[in-house]
Amino acid sequence: MYEQIKLAYAADALEPVIGRETVETHHGKHHATYTTNLNAAAEKAGVADKPIEEVLANLDQISDAATRTAVLNNGGGFYNHNIYFEQLRAPRDDNRPTGAIAAQIDADFGSFDAFKEKMSGLAVGQFGSGWAWLSADAAGKLYLSQSANQENPISQGTGHTPLLTIDVWEHAYYLDYKNLRPKYVDEIWKIIDWDVVEKRYENR
Ligand SMILES: [Fe+2]
Repeated sequence: MYEQIKLAYAADALEPVIGRETVETHHGKHHATYTTNLNAAAEKAGVADKPIEEVLANLDQISDAATRTAVLNNGGGFYNHNIYFEQLRAPRDDNRPTGAIAAQIDADFGSFDAFKEKMSGLAVGQFGSGWAWLSADAAGKLYLSQSANQENPISQGTGHTPLLTIDVWEHAYYLDYKNLRPKYVDEIWKIIDWDVVEKRYENR
């Protein structure tokens, strides 16, 4: 059975960047529903015993189209939100990565600020609901990408390991920012837990 991650912080810990009500609804309702629906769909597809990464990388092995779509939508919703909520922490000024991931960001994008601008642009520019991603290949090279709805670099078949994501579904920011997605994306950099991102990079 798939279980959504428990938050390592209080629901109001991300304020003022993301408010308590958003966290409670987003994690407690949206993410919880994806998880419940994934468990039903994965059972139907006969893949419920497999790690979610393996399921999402092999969706073509689910022959029934409606079940495959249900596993993609709810499996992506489950996995993407685990990545998202695990990588957040209380706001910090001048919040930046350190260690190997910081060095690789400089190598691949020129500077942290250049990287941030590029990833923010992808998050703001994603048409409709979706996500922006930082991911790595096996050699450690970094990639930026977008995905629609509940797709991610795994379901898109890139073979890359997701390291960091920005949820740009309206439910992620509407209570706090209304229609101002660029403001939400600008603020979220204050609450990225770079220690979690660094660990994902080391374990890719
Ligand atoms: Fe979301």
